[in-house]
Amino acid sequence: MTRHFLRDDDLTPVEQREVLELALRLKAERFAERPLAGPRAVAILFDKPTLRTQLSFTVGVAELGGHPMVVDGNLARIGVRESVEDTAKVLGRQVAAVVWRTFDQSRLETMARHAGVPVVNALTDQFHPCQALADLLTIAEHAGGLDALHDRTLAYVGDGANNMAHSYLLAGATAGMHVRIGTPFGRRPDAQVVDRAAAVAATTGGSVTVVHDAAAAVSGAEAVATDTWVSMGDATSEQEAEELFGPFRLDAELLDRAEPGAVALHCMPAYRGKEITAEVMDGPRSVVLDEAENRLHVQKAVLTWLLERP
Ligand code: CP
Repeated sequence: MTRHFLRDDDLTPVEQREVLELALRLKAERFAERPLAGPRAVAILFDKPTLRTQLSFTVGVAELGGHPMVVDGNLARIGVRESVEDTAKVLGRQVAAVVWRTFDQSRLETMARHAGVPVVNALTDQFHPCQALADLLTIAEHAGGLDALHDRTLAYVGDGANNMAHSYLLAGATAGMHVRIGTPFGRRPDAQVVDRAAAVAATTGGSVTVVHDAAAAVSGAEAVATDTWVSMGDATSEQEAEELFGPFRLDAELLDRAEPGAVALHCMPAYRGKEITAEVMDGPRSVVLDEAENRLHVQKAVLTWLLERP
């Protein structure tokens, strides 16, 4: 059966660990795996803006021996010019895998149902699982290894209803972490995602908590993450965002409430002075550039792992 990586809980705890171990190996030995040798092509489709994702998938596919075919969504106009289903069937005849950044998760699910090759989520409105995996790898590296993820507390402050909050909940719970979301009333994560993350956490020894106080969220945490207050396509004005999320800004005072040695995460692009201060973003506790680099290593691992499934 063709496997996909559409959301974080598509990987079981054992599988997530396998992928993270493979990512560490590929980080140490960049060209150790060549599952795309031929070269076989991977379609990398973008319906939304990108820098890191296009960069890391393009480099990653090339390093795996393949040919990255990057397609601007404005050219393909998937779902407008032709259906997602027809697009999937055409792509699946010629590429080894499909990587897609798009809007609603249902579009990605339709692609996966019809492509006949592995499909990877490069960000949807609901989830950003490749970023969450890269962040887990980054936290592990700074904590002394993958075993250190278990029982560690990851706090996220900001928009609790966005894709990064959802992915942190699911990926963190899968890794046995304690995930705390600090977000305003009215911006709680999707209840189904919280319930699913809690169910996963019950099997891994982790936990999930949603609070409406930033200090309570980060207190004692070993990793503190945030993300843009206004996600791609969100109509919230800058003034509305400031009023809503201002108390959840990741500044040095808030980070000081975390464990000594806690790392600060941001998946970038970052807006200094809004969701994160320049002092934190560019300071000694920031690991944002490690996160950006680790996108490459985890995505190579995800593609290799998916392509090797029977
Ligand atoms: N973090 C991330 O996905 O970056 P891009 O939007 O630039 O791809």
